[in-house]
Amino acid sequence: MKKKVALITGITGQDGSYLAELLLKKKYVVHGVIRKSSSFNTGRIDHIYIDPHNKTNFYLHYGDLTDSNSVYNIINKIRPDEVYNLGAQSHVGVSFDNPEYTAEVSGIGTLRILEALRFLNIKKVKFYQASTSELFGETYNKNVFDENSKFHPKSPYGVAKLYSYWITSVYRESYGIFASNGILFNHESPRRGETFVTRKITRFLTRKKLGSKDVLYLGNLNAKRDWGHAIDYVEMQWRILQQKKPEDFVVATGNSYSVRQFIDMCAKVLKMKIIWTGKGLNEKAYILNKNKKELLIKVDKRYFRPNEVHYLRGDARKAFKKLRFKPKFTLRKLVEDMIKSDLELAKSELK
Ligand code: NAP
Ligand code: GDD
Repeated sequence: MKKKVALITGITGQDGSYLAELLLKKKYVVHGVIRKSSSFNTGRIDHIYIDPHNKTNFYLHYGDLTDSNSVYNIINKIRPDEVYNLGAQSHVGVSFDNPEYTAEVSGIGTLRILEALRFLNIKKVKFYQASTSELFGETYNKNVFDENSKFHPKSPYGVAKLYSYWITSVYRESYGIFASNGILFNHESPRRGETFVTRKITRFLTRKKLGSKDVLYLGNLNAKRDWGHAIDYVEMQWRILQQKKPEDFVVATGNSYSVRQFIDMCAKVLKMKIIWTGKGLNEKAYILNKNKKELLIKVDKRYFRPNEVHYLRGDARKAFKKLRFKPKFTLRKLVEDMIKSDLELAKSELK
């Protein structure tokens, strides 16, 4: 039987790397788009690339979501059965500094792929769009978001992703392309980028555990997020494309915790004693060590955003039912996974 061919944009990112592993396990031929960069950006997929078992089923192509010709040429060459559009300028904070670039990559980039699929008229191709809980943003007195909740993005990133969400739906309705949105809530892992808050915290606390004298500077500690594990969530991305008809799905755990609570959970796993003092910009955390108080965390205005999504919690009942979504990771397990991996990394840095 002919192997299925998948194309992943954003293959060098957190989700792209896990999704590539999953699809290879499922005997796909996997193609990924990588960007030219002046330093190595393939750290998350090097182990896949050098594995001799993957020699004839894993291929990388230079391209960029801002470059229509590269997108078109790669799709034309590969003729994929499934396209996973995970490529994005995915940092909400950075999108305020680079709004136009964010719109180009995370918004119009999606259109570039859909246009290539339309022109090339590839039979039965299926398209997955990495949509996001950042589409919501405003609670409107509701404490949970599902597929029918009102959108109200709060950042240039959220607006770019809103365009992608709708253009995916428009191409599905207008041209009959199998195109689906996964509206995924935050998901983390040991491969999470180090400027996202969970990984910034696990990297810092594990170094601290090994004796670092640094202080961590953070922004809004009250923000609440619905955090899942990327390994669970990439499986849902695949399942969304295995449905009989294209549809949009919310993927979330249904639980929401603050950044401060995430820190407390990490400290518990690391058996560190933390005490919090002060409020707002004066809030600080100290670590208690043999009755001595050492400054651990300070709030820093620089990490506040011009506009904030204060609260996110998803209602994934549709995914639970139709995709048989049953996450393997609780938040506690996610924290343990990240801490374990970052402790190893911190130890290796000391050598
Ligand atoms: P990530 O780790 O930031 O990865 C983003 C990927 O996009 C990287 O491979 C990056 O390449 C690539 N990329 C950036 N600019 C590009 C461009 N101009 N052309 C082509 N590729 C480009 O993100 P992630 O956490 O894996 O998330 C995957 C997708 O899901 C993203 O679209 C994100 O917006 C969305 N999403 C994420 C979450 C979450 O909580 N993780 C939740 C909802 C939705 P480099 O490695 O070269 O930078
Ligand atoms: N990054 C960061 N750094 N965030 C901080 C910090 C800090 O020092 N201090 C507090 N925060 C707060 C942010 O203000 C936000 O409310 C929350 O922590 C989470 O921030 P991030 O981890 O950067 O994630 P995000 O929720 O903004 O965006 C992520 O999730 C989206 C899905 O909801 C990204 O992965 C997006 O690509 C994704 O769409």
